[in-house]
Amino acid sequence: MKRLAALLAGVLVSSAGAVHAQGFPTHPITMVVPFAAGGPTDAIARIVAEHMSKALGQQVLVQNELGAGGTTATARVAQAKPDGYTIVMGQMGTHGTAPAVYPKLRYNPVTDFAPIGMATLAPVLIVARKDLPPKDLKELVAYARANAAKLNEGHAGVGSISYTSCTLFNAAMGVKITQVAYRGTGPALNDMLAGQIDLMCDQVVTYVEQVKGGAIKAYAIASNERSPALPNVPTTKEAGLPNFQVTAWSALFAPKGTPPAIIAKLNGALDKALDDENVRKRLTEQGGIVPPKADRTPAWLQAFVKNEVERLTPLLKAALAAQNK
Ligand code: MLT
Repeated sequence: MKRLAALLAGVLVSSAGAVHAQGFPTHPITMVVPFAAGGPTDAIARIVAEHMSKALGQQVLVQNELGAGGTTATARVAQAKPDGYTIVMGQMGTHGTAPAVYPKLRYNPVTDFAPIGMATLAPVLIVARKDLPPKDLKELVAYARANAAKLNEGHAGVGSISYTSCTLFNAAMGVKITQVAYRGTGPALNDMLAGQIDLMCDQVVTYVEQVKGGAIKAYAIASNERSPALPNVPTTKEAGLPNFQVTAWSALFAPKGTPPAIIAKLNGALDKALDDENVRKRLTEQGGIVPPKADRTPAWLQAFVKNEVERLTPLLKAALAAQNK
């Protein structure tokens, strides 16, 4: 009798959970962006959130929470209530390279989240203030070797994509350049426009208009192929630094323990957003690459993040060790 009562209680609890997931969402969802407004993570989040709101019938509100290369906000989301109402736009920094540089990181990118899906890929672009003397990447490498002590690089905090990319770039050039931390590359770009920051290496998204308008200069895109958004910018392979290649990514995560039915709804809304013509246009115009259908599932993202942490940790550690020799 006791056993039957316990079984019935179990059934009631799980069907209550199912009903909860069925009605989801009943109120707005917060999409945390762990970097400042105006940078690539923020831009990607705002484009997909707008369309996800339509698909879910509830507002997906973007909230910027800054600090420690995106890891402060990401740690908060890992510990948030796993009910689908707090999710984070994670990326290659927060979920790929942070473990290499934060020994006391307060989350495990592989085990503390319920992945929702990949949002966008974006190759890294090497940019500089418009009046930096070198005309092309070869000249920049020579200039950096001769003037490393005079140069600076802006990035979005230790462990971020821009920090990692510039660190790998410096290692590829064999130089150590002063790095200046911001709480996002939006503010760093503003300082580059004002002539205070010399160089940045960041995902191409949010730099296209400034490059086209001549407000900053682009030396190369760190991928095998040119970006359709900036067809005149050579690849690092063409420009003489073939070993420097970085493709950044941004993806949505919920806290571990979020019911699978809720993850499925959020994933479905993201998938719809990425199929929408206007969303695709806005992302690709800025150099983003919309992931193919097969790479948009939670299971794919789970395996991808594990692989990225394993791939990027030794790479970044080796680049840092080379710099500190
Ligand atoms: C990064 O460097 O990780 C991002 O570009 C930061 C940002 O989106 O501001």
